[in-house]
Amino acid sequence: MFKIVKDSAKSIREKCKPVETPISKEDKELALSMVDYLIKSQDDEYASKHNIRSGVGLAAPQIGIQKRIFAIYYVVDDEIVQYALINPKIIQNSLKKVALASGEGCLSVDNDHPGYVYRYNKIVIKGFDAIQDKEVTITARGYDAIVLQHEYDHLDGILYYDRIDKKNPNKEIENSYLI
Ligand code: NI
Repeated sequence: MFKIVKDSAKSIREKCKPVETPISKEDKELALSMVDYLIKSQDDEYASKHNIRSGVGLAAPQIGIQKRIFAIYYVVDDEIVQYALINPKIIQNSLKKVALASGEGCLSVDNDHPGYVYRYNKIVIKGFDAIQDKEVTITARGYDAIVLQHEYDHLDGILYYDRIDKKNPNKEIENSYLI
């Protein structure tokens, strides 16, 4: 069980270090255990018993490890979306942006920060996926792209509310849409 680092901690704002290559068994296992945490967090009974919040993504700095690793896990239309990415890198992005109409949330952020968090609608991200145990190149759009960018930001010490327009949280911008 991980203890989640909150946004009040200084470490959550640090830029994480790349994982040494070749990637060790320990680092792969760490990435996989982060997916496992997310799966358990989405089990209502388990979550309430252990008093944890449900999450779709988790980055290593959120469990006190300053390494470039994050995991995502969720089910959409009976399809599982899961990655345990080590040393991910966004290598391409669309000009078009997308935001969640209801705003974003984060396991490290207990307060509500309403507002649109605009992110690239489409990204291509490369990295080592501990689930598939190989280097992967992922093309993601819409919700998938949002979740990947949210987690990727954690590796650079960026939190979702940093990206909300403070004067006008529900600002509409050109070439963007809400989902
Ligand atoms: Ni987060």
